[in-house]
Amino acid sequence: MRENPLVLHVLGARPNFVKAAPVVRALDEIGVRQGIIHTGQHYDALMSDVFFADLGLPEPVANLGVGSGSHAKQTAALLVGLEDVVLEHRPSLVVVYGDVNSTLAAILVCAKLHIPTAHVEAGLRSFDREMPEEVNRVVTDALSDILFATSPEALSYLAREGADPERVHLVGNPMIDSLFSALPKLDPAPVQERLGVSGRYAVATLHRPANVDDPESARELVEAVLAVAERVPVVVPLHPRGRQRLADAGLMDRENLKIIDPLGYVDFLSLVRGAALVVTDSGGVQEETTMLGVPCLTVRPNTERPITVTHGTNRLVTPAGLPAAAEKALADGSATPSGELPPLWDGAAGPRIARVIAAWLRGDNLSPAAQGRNRQS
Ligand code: UD1
Ligand code: UDP
Repeated sequence: MRENPLVLHVLGARPNFVKAAPVVRALDEIGVRQGIIHTGQHYDALMSDVFFADLGLPEPVANLGVGSGSHAKQTAALLVGLEDVVLEHRPSLVVVYGDVNSTLAAILVCAKLHIPTAHVEAGLRSFDREMPEEVNRVVTDALSDILFATSPEALSYLAREGADPERVHLVGNPMIDSLFSALPKLDPAPVQERLGVSGRYAVATLHRPANVDDPESARELVEAVLAVAERVPVVVPLHPRGRQRLADAGLMDRENLKIIDPLGYVDFLSLVRGAALVVTDSGGVQEETTMLGVPCLTVRPNTERPITVTHGTNRLVTPAGLPAAAEKALADGSATPSGELPPLWDGAAGPRIARVIAAWLRGDNLSPAAQGRNRQS
């Protein structure tokens, strides 16, 4: 093993920060040398800085400032920026999270530079290759040396794609670790007061390209949200991606509908904790509502997180079906099919991941291919 090995985490977008925080904390506790590379994929203070503050993440060792662009332009900028920074720091292991373009780029760069990698949230599949995230997941898992699965169904998907079982570790869900840590701070009252909401209300987050990029889809969705707002007040902390298209489609402040900037992590989850209903197309929010026991309607034809349906409060809906589903969810409350939370969603995923990484850095329990690579690093 290299003396005092360095672990680098590549983070770029809002959900990455939430997933990485418990891993960074747990590695810190066992004394592993580490650093964060922020790609700058998300850069608005409310999409980035507020998460570092709320989650207690350390300052990045570098911020590549790649910003926005088409998939090709953004990914190209990420590849160029990440290659330089990885060559400069020569890490023993690079850890990537989730399914965003920063994750894909980091995996490609490291594979070509023969730098070992670990993927947190491996094996999730929507089986919908029209989603950019699904492409990123498949490529990332194919190239990662260590695969950290958050949910049991991931194990069979990874096996089907030929992953060596020695590379795969079922560790639980670090996004849920972050939620556990934040729970004592999740008080709905102050954010409700600031926003002027009280009693029963719904929270909606919408940013999937399939929902917000096409004017016709955006119009259908907005109509459905307006119909929900006739039944219950709706607060929409709006992701910058959907801002213009959804406004053009008629999503604007009116009675019972509050359109606001994205909220910081603690404010957002506090608002969700006090909500009677969540409407979303987010990945992470499906998981967080399951954990908080808040009914969630996901406006998507599929989910890479089916466990939130079988073990949680999540239901998939079409835009046309949303108003009736909202009515039913408001009447039914938070009953779940199994009555049990998903396995290992216990707040200890970060320490499990850190233990595997520490053992890997020592050279224990490795597959022959990974051992060979680790010795070279
Ligand atoms: C990205 C991820 C998506 C994830 C989401 C989390 C990819 C392919 N997509 O989508 O999987 O669910 O992050 O939030 O990686 N923008 C700003 N300010 C910012 C960031 C973005 O205004 O700080 C605007 C820009 O107009 C930009 C657009 O949002 O073009 C989209 O940003 P981008 O990072 O490309 O994708 P997201 O839709 O955020
Ligand atoms: N989130 C937040 N403020 C908001 C909306 C979401 O803090 O206004 C948090 C949410 O609690 C979750 C993460 O952002 O932890 C999910 O990010 P997003 O929905 O953007 O991405 P996805 O999970 O769909 O990839």
